[in-house]
Amino acid sequence: MSTVEFNQVIKSYGDVKVIHDFNLSINDGEFVSFLGPSGCGKTTCLRMVAGLEHNTGGVIKIDNVTVSTGKSSEFVPPENRKVGMVFQSYAVWPHMNVFDNIAYPLKIEKASKTEIESKVKEILDIVELSGLENRMPNELSGGQQQRVALARGLVARPKVLLLDEPLSNLDAKLREKMRGDIRKIQQQFKITCIYVTHDQIEAFTMSDRIVIMNKGDIVQMGTPEEIRQAPANDFVANFIS
Ligand SMILES: Nc1ncnc2c1ncn2[C@@H]1O[C@H](COP(=O)(O)OP(=O)(O)OP(=O)(O)O)[C@@H](O)[C@H]1O
Ligand SMILES: [Mg+2]
Repeated sequence: MSTVEFNQVIKSYGDVKVIHDFNLSINDGEFVSFLGPSGCGKTTCLRMVAGLEHNTGGVIKIDNVTVSTGKSSEFVPPENRKVGMVFQSYAVWPHMNVFDNIAYPLKIEKASKTEIESKVKEILDIVELSGLENRMPNELSGGQQQRVALARGLVARPKVLLLDEPLSNLDAKLREKMRGDIRKIQQQFKITCIYVTHDQIEAFTMSDRIVIMNKGDIVQMGTPEEIRQAPANDFVANFIS
C-alpha cells in the first residue's frame, strides 16, 4: 500500500501550461478517479506519477518519498517507482504469449524462474485467465487482452496502480464486468489506484473519491455522494448530469 501526493504541480509543454497548480493527497489503498473532458490533463497527471513525464514545477511524492521536483537531479526513474500502469489500448506485446506478457515486469526485476512461475500463476487465477498462458494475443478476445494488461500491471505488486481509460475499447457488457473485477482486485490487493476516465458512470461506480478536472485545474474533489449532492459549480453540474 502507498500514498501519492501532488504538491503545487505544474506541467508546461513549451510556453503552454497544461497543468496549473495541482494539489492532491491520495490515501493508502484509496481508489481515486480523475474525471474530466478530453484534453483537461488527466493522462498528463498520470504519466507524471509514473515518471513517463517530467513535471515542470512542484513536488510529487509516492509513499512520502519525493520522486520528482521538476529538477532532473531529483527525478526517480519509472523503473524505481514501483508503479504499475494499464493503458487505454491493451498494449500487450503481440509477439509474446500470455505467460510471457505477464511475466515481463518480473523478468525486468530479475526475479527467479520459480518466483515468476508462481506469481504469474497466482495472478492468472485472479484475472480468470488460467489455462490460456500459451495463447498469443491475437487468439484472445478484447476483454481477455485487457485482463492480460491488468495482470501485467499487477504481477509485480506495485505500490500504486495507474489505469488510463482501460475499458474504453470494450463493449458495454464487458465494461461493466471489468469495472467490478478491477475494483475487487484493487480491494483484495489493497492497492492505491488512480483511474483516469471521461466516463462518469465508471468514476461514480468504482471510486472512493473523484477528482473532477477542467483545463488543467481541479474543479472539485469528493466522494461520489458529495459530488452528486453538491456540485461545486455549473461546469460540474453539467458534466455529471
Ligand atoms: N507531448 C505534448 N506536447 C504538447 N502538448 C501536449 C503533449 N501531450 C499532451 N499535450 C496537451 O496537454 C493537454 C492535456 O493532455 P492530456 O493527454 O493529459 O489530456 P486528457 O485529459 O488525458 O485527454 P483525453 O481524455 O482526450 O485522453 C492537452 O491540451 C494536450 O494537447
Ligand atoms: Mg488521456
